[in-house]
Amino acid sequence: MTATTLPTPADLSITPRDRRFGRDAATPRLWHGGRVEATAIYNALSATFPIGEAYFVESVRAFREGAPPKLAEEIKGFTTQEAIHSREHDAFNKRAANAGYDLSKLEERVSERLAITRSRPPIVNVAATMALEHFTAILAHQLLANPRHLEGAEPETADLWRWHAVEEIEHKGVAYDTWLHATRGWPRYKRWRVKAKVMLLVTRNFLVDRTAGALELMRQDGVTGLKAWWLLMTYLWVRPAMFRKIAGAWLSYFLPGFHPWNVDDRHLLGAYAAIASGTESTRKVRRAA
Ligand SMILES: [Fe+2]
Ligand SMILES: [Fe+2]
Repeated sequence: MTATTLPTPADLSITPRDRRFGRDAATPRLWHGGRVEATAIYNALSATFPIGEAYFVESVRAFREGAPPKLAEEIKGFTTQEAIHSREHDAFNKRAANAGYDLSKLEERVSERLAITRSRPPIVNVAATMALEHFTAILAHQLLANPRHLEGAEPETADLWRWHAVEEIEHKGVAYDTWLHATRGWPRYKRWRVKAKVMLLVTRNFLVDRTAGALELMRQDGVTGLKAWWLLMTYLWVRPAMFRKIAGAWLSYFLPGFHPWNVDDRHLLGAYAAIASGTESTRKVRRAA
């Protein structure tokens, strides 16, 4: 495959939707249906976004120079979307802090991990970014495809997660295409080896850190020990089983010929057309007025 035949759909548009969530009222502490484990895992994910997404932007931007015009345009859409996501998750994290959670341990963990990765060559950072972007894209797919994941969640906060998911699907090929372009002179096997090795490392860290982060937040809610572990594992792996349900899509990353757009899931964006077009927020503003 060459940089000129990238399988990202030609008619894909990466549209930053500058939306704001939850600015009018406090978010309830257990915003996810009153459930400690559900709130904890989403809060643990959110704690990583402002730091993580700034890192994604920095990693991809390092290769913007010399990128073909279409890719350069996609990088622009991607960086704008991620910057707005960071702003909204930063605001969300502040609301979680206002509700009494201390996210500092979780944020420190992300910073530590990224400090190690940043000390590696820029191409390794693109590899880590595309691995994590695959994670966010398959999580986003699952979140939009299966309403059970946000069942019972406070509506405005559920909207924030759906809005983020829509844009993660839209820009899911950008880090990957940046990698394909940057490594276009590499032998196939070397490309696959680096990509696979980095994905395995990223996956281990992702599972260990998000689980530890969620357990830490559950501890802050007074749920500890075996009970905490059982609740969280059941939620992630049994029902609604977000982690189990992305396992197949995760595995596909290692197949020869993998590309994030081999699965065109843009129909999921249409399911949230109100969010996508911003009409929902306009309606809310009108109602409030
Ligand atoms: Fe994002
Ligand atoms: Fe992203």
